[in-house]
Amino acid sequence: MLTGQAVRAISQDNGFVHWDSRYSVGIPLIDDQHKELIRLTNELYECCLLNDTAAKAAFMLTIKHTVTYVKYHFSAEEKLMQNIQFPGLAEHKKEHDAFVVQVLKEAKSFESGKQFVPNQFVHFLKDWTLSHIGVMDKKYAEYIRSLKKQGLLDKTVLSASPVNQ
Ligand SMILES: [Fe+2]
Repeated sequence: MLTGQAVRAISQDNGFVHWDSRYSVGIPLIDDQHKELIRLTNELYECCLLNDTAAKAAFMLTIKHTVTYVKYHFSAEEKLMQNIQFPGLAEHKKEHDAFVVQVLKEAKSFESGKQFVPNQFVHFLKDWTLSHIGVMDKKYAEYIRSLKKQGLLDKTVLSASPVNQ
């Protein structure tokens, strides 16, 4: 499991987030999606370093991409958890839903130009993503590992995509 110390170590790396194998949940499809979330966080961070109108527009566009991608990724995870009948699905979905609400709220604040600190938002995004992967996502990963061990895993569920729902 990812410790608070590991999260802080990553967070201190000039504000950039880098993928590390310790974040792996052991499912390539999900790992790739987590890598994309990290890439989007870095992109938003880079927008924060600039300070002009173009940077603001880029930031808004990237926030929109992030919201779309986060929703896509959460659907993929939830479908996967549903397929394996993961008992922690409801709790996990609650955390996803709260995050989406928060990000949408932040995007709205940014759009209206009120009470929004881009740098703070990027840090929130980074911290949330890393701790969510390290705690919540590792729980279903662990469940999948135990199913595998018992020979109870239908491997086709590991390539679950919300597109095929
Ligand atoms: Fe998740």
